[in-house]
Amino acid sequence: MKRRDFLKSTAMATAAAVAAPALSACKSVSDKGVDGSIAARMDYRDDGTFTLLQITDTHFISGDPRSDKCMECVKETLAEVRPDLIIHTGDILFGRPEMESIREILTPVSESGIPFAVALGNHDAEFGSSREEVYAFIRGMKGCVNLPPKEGVYGCSNDVITLGGEKPERVFYLMDSGNSVEIKTREDKFSYDYIRGSQIGWYRAHSERFTAANGGVPVPSMAFFHIPLRETAEGVAAGAQLVGNNCESSCPSDINSGLLAQFLEMGDVEAVVNGHEHDCDYVLNYGPMFYIYGRCTGGGTVYYNLGAEGALGTPIPGCRVFQFKKGEPGFRTWVRILGGEIQQKIYCHDNKIDLL
Ligand SMILES: [Fe+2]
Repeated sequence: MKRRDFLKSTAMATAAAVAAPALSACKSVSDKGVDGSIAARMDYRDDGTFTLLQITDTHFISGDPRSDKCMECVKETLAEVRPDLIIHTGDILFGRPEMESIREILTPVSESGIPFAVALGNHDAEFGSSREEVYAFIRGMKGCVNLPPKEGVYGCSNDVITLGGEKPERVFYLMDSGNSVEIKTREDKFSYDYIRGSQIGWYRAHSERFTAANGGVPVPSMAFFHIPLRETAEGVAAGAQLVGNNCESSCPSDINSGLLAQFLEMGDVEAVVNGHEHDCDYVLNYGPMFYIYGRCTGGGTVYYNLGAEGALGTPIPGCRVFQFKKGEPGFRTWVRILGGEIQQKIYCHDNKIDLL
């Protein structure tokens, strides 16, 4: 049975959102809209570190007690990790009332005072409001740095965030990997969506500009989008080094847009960071790329490929943390699960993974 057949939504009554205390203490700056194309220019803290928190697949449903652990996880993680930037890689909600579901789960994020951005997932526009409406609603929340959709570029949540002040040392690309496409030759006609040519052109234009401004040297970059590349499954099948839980087959689009080749050609993106697979939270070191899943942050509304309780057992929501150090290649990353346990602490650099 296909994964999507397990995914059932439940519309529940609205519940009042609970505000989280303000947490911001970082040096990071967000100047939304600067030069019309950069969503935010961030900087390191005074100690030379920068912490990015990835939340993913919250599948939040307002009024549904199954979402309580998800909310608890988001609040607890924000309070403990105190990141400098938050990226939600999609499947934010999973039922009606859709805007209230979004508002509630993003309220602790918004009220933390920490800049945040989203890369929409395949379920985010399935509950009554269009992708554009959902995206506009999120952009209206305080702290969201996403810019309006770009004319001529597929999807909504395509954005660039830089790190390192006026001369960026790193670039974070956020891309909208869409929902689904029809494949005429398949019996069920279904495939997950893929990164389109217009998005690749948008990425290349930015990449070329950053490289030119850096004296012809590509600026180390990461790409965040919901649906993984096809090469993730290829790397697993090839037996590439993998750190973390791999309890679900990767579910990419049937269509390979060639995005990996673009990243390699431009020479800047060293890691792709996805959501989508709730039973995977690994880092895969395959060829000149790190393929990374976030830890599913969703609670009991999340259904799993390998059974309703999930291959990981009773689902324990969590988040993935990335830490960057000024002047140091690569990045450190780990998973933090509800309750505070840290798992998979590693240093990814130069196509290598060091266990920490
Ligand atoms: Fe999901």
